[in-house]
Amino acid sequence: MLTITQSDQLQGEILIPGDKSISHRAVMFSSLAKGTTQISGFLPGEDCLSTIRCFRQMGVSIEQTGSKVTVKGKGWFGLDEPVYPLDVGNSGTTIRLMMGILSTQPFHSVLIGDESIAKRPMDRVALPLRAMGSFIDGRKEGGYTPLSIRGRKLKGIEYQLPVASAQVKSAILLAGIKAEGRTTIVEPYPSRDHTERMFSHFGVQLFMNDNVIALEGGQELVSPEEVTVPGDISSAAFFLVAGAIVPNSQLLLKNVGLNPTRIGIIHVLKRMGAKMQEENYRHFGNEPAADLIISSSSLKGTVIEGSEIPTLIDEIPVIAVLATQAEGITIIRDAEELKVKETNRIDTVVSQLKKMGAKIEGTEDGMIIEGPTPLTGDHVDSFGDHRIGMAMAIAGLVAKGETTISNAGAINVSFPNFADILSKIRIK
Ligand code: S3P
Repeated sequence: MLTITQSDQLQGEILIPGDKSISHRAVMFSSLAKGTTQISGFLPGEDCLSTIRCFRQMGVSIEQTGSKVTVKGKGWFGLDEPVYPLDVGNSGTTIRLMMGILSTQPFHSVLIGDESIAKRPMDRVALPLRAMGSFIDGRKEGGYTPLSIRGRKLKGIEYQLPVASAQVKSAILLAGIKAEGRTTIVEPYPSRDHTERMFSHFGVQLFMNDNVIALEGGQELVSPEEVTVPGDISSAAFFLVAGAIVPNSQLLLKNVGLNPTRIGIIHVLKRMGAKMQEENYRHFGNEPAADLIISSSSLKGTVIEGSEIPTLIDEIPVIAVLATQAEGITIIRDAEELKVKETNRIDTVVSQLKKMGAKIEGTEDGMIIEGPTPLTGDHVDSFGDHRIGMAMAIAGLVAKGETTISNAGAINVSFPNFADILSKIRIK
């Protein structure tokens, strides 16, 4: 249980922990490359630790202390057949990317996860992988965990993604690397491109043009020896919103990854009138990053839709909190994907913010929020969803009285020191 009281001011400097998406990929790619890779800035959250556990189970030596990780890669076909099921915990990225990797392996494997993973659709990945020749079975006609995978010699495909999903795209690209011939993916809108950027860092050649990504099969990953992970903009988002809505606040967020496919939250904050500055722009390998300064300001509602959705999909719970404090109406549409995240985030965000007095209604593909509304502390639930837990904590900072959040342990999935940081930056 996490208890948050109203705050009159936030001040200070925050070192944003490593990007979850990039940390997963760093461990996976290093395990599949030959040679030793040192990863720094790794996110030691539960999701990324699940990825490490899966690769250790397949015989890869991985040492991890905090944000430092050393991986002794065994080469793509150096993995051992896992004797027991690989448990991905709560991590959608782990299971979906692993499905692509395991489909190329000359062995059988079983993937399992927690209660939330058991409800999330895996057929979006299984269907294209089966079309490439993989044998994937599972519960409910093969679309849900536990999944059983028998890897095969695959064939490249041309695949039009029905939804903009980096997890599906990445699974197909990972399978395509060892498939015969060319694999081509066409996306409805660009999704996060960390896989493509890290492939280049590991010496894989890709062809990219607007929404089309292609690669030739039969390539090897070559360890770049070092990978540095920037901070996670999705974690920074909670403090960007906190700095914007708590009065008299100014926060310096250090090390924020600013990959162009992830910065929808920055565009939305600016559109809504937030005072924000960027300094110290730099690169961590192929990934851009900077420090951000956010100050409290008066905000106005906005419309978020279409191609902007994939660039801020994980930030929508905290954007909903932001919108409760903005003047006018905020409309979020084209975001049906929210229904298949760690929880159905349309339902969980709307029901929990309503308890606190927000004027918010769920729609088929998003939500409509009217502000500004004074919130009141209440007892809310994360329902085991890390981002719902943190969004409610930020709402608690501007809510009268006390907000208690149950199942707050879920926050460890992506941001283990979230509560510590929050208590350090509170002035009042
Ligand atoms: C992720 C992709 C997104 C995102 C998730 C991480 C990734 O999911 O919501 O938190 O690392 O590739 P989808 O691919 O389902 O959109």
